[in-house]
Amino acid sequence: MRMVAVLAVAAVLGVAACGSGGDDDVTAPSTVEVFTWWAEGGEKAGLDALVARFGADCPGQRFENAAVAGGAGVNAKQALADRMARKDPPDTFQAHAGAELTEYIDAGRVQDLTGYYDAWGLRAVLPRGLIDDLTVNGKIYSVPANIHRANVIWTNPAVLARAGITGPPKDLPAFMTDLARLKAAGVEAPLALGRDWTQLMLLEAVLISDLGAEKFAGLFTGATPWTGAPVTTAITDFVRLLGYANLDRDSLDWPQAERLLIDGKAGYQLMGDWEAADLTAKGLPGYGWFTFPGNGTTFQWLADSFTLPTGAPNATGTTCWLKTVGSAAGQQAFNTAKGSIPARTDVSPAGFAPYQRAAMADWKTAVPVPSCAHGSACSQPWQSAINAALTAYATGHDASTLQADLATAADQFVRP
Ligand code: GAL
Repeated sequence: MRMVAVLAVAAVLGVAACGSGGDDDVTAPSTVEVFTWWAEGGEKAGLDALVARFGADCPGQRFENAAVAGGAGVNAKQALADRMARKDPPDTFQAHAGAELTEYIDAGRVQDLTGYYDAWGLRAVLPRGLIDDLTVNGKIYSVPANIHRANVIWTNPAVLARAGITGPPKDLPAFMTDLARLKAAGVEAPLALGRDWTQLMLLEAVLISDLGAEKFAGLFTGATPWTGAPVTTAITDFVRLLGYANLDRDSLDWPQAERLLIDGKAGYQLMGDWEAADLTAKGLPGYGWFTFPGNGTTFQWLADSFTLPTGAPNATGTTCWLKTVGSAAGQQAFNTAKGSIPARTDVSPAGFAPYQRAAMADWKTAVPVPSCAHGSACSQPWQSAINAALTAYATGHDASTLQADLATAADQFVRP
């Protein structure tokens, strides 16, 4: 009993965890298996930068890469669920701050990290709103590495210039006009789009424009009905936008849709700001960007965070990983390479790309709304139900069925 208490205190203070590499316990495994979906491009570059920092912070601990490729974790989440179900968790896994961890928290599959927040001083350096979103019944179960923005349009300026488009559209109707202009100029699919979850991002952005930030957020708390006329309007706009997108979208992941933009086959792509680092890495450093038309000052946020699963083989090494993830140096290294901005408020903008410096400034003043496609607004089963509704729309093309399916999903999964 006393032994358990001593270990618990040591772990909370990070004493055994960092620096010593858990030297006291010679039998402790020294490999930290890190499960993510960051397997290539800017995402892998971000992970590599974090791993380098981990190597410096946690001598004696070795990073083991358990990445499962597929944007937004489409394949990783299922692989993780299988492992968690057979009680074979990795040492840590990537999850979004917010509703996404609900099921694992309810089932006791991830450990309470609240003590580390106090020991590492995280409460003082993370935004209050983010701490609130991470807190479930007074406890916190993950450490955020970053803030990403979802509602951004990325552009290929050369393609736009050829069609005489020189600036961002002021609202959604003006965006439709510019898309039509590109089409008239011979760009077959002006808006690059990918599979289900990328379509959900587009739908969410349109919902923000047509409902406003507050009513949009209410869609995920039960305060805004999915059956109402404003949602019908948004679905109509969404369908119009699909008319400007590539027809093979249902079979493309986001980097393949991004390829259309890089190759000049599209003028625009809606994607989270992991695209900033990826465009630079893949040959379009002169990209343009603007907030989705009609979203005003809304900043649709999501945060990648890391957990300590129940039964993680190397809790000591994982604690050190989590400390690096939450540290200023870790967030500086990770985010400069990843396209996101630090979740911490005390990291200097120096060394960040112009896009990221602009995002840092926006984050301070913008209206934050969460994302369902990236787990801050809705649970995983809810997200899967919406993705299934969008997949059904792709074959049935029935807008009223889509709205009904979205309403049914909300009824089933909303937690007031
Ligand atoms: C998001 C994740 C980002 C990025 C993106 C594309 O869900 O938060 O960090 O990896 O998916 O894969």
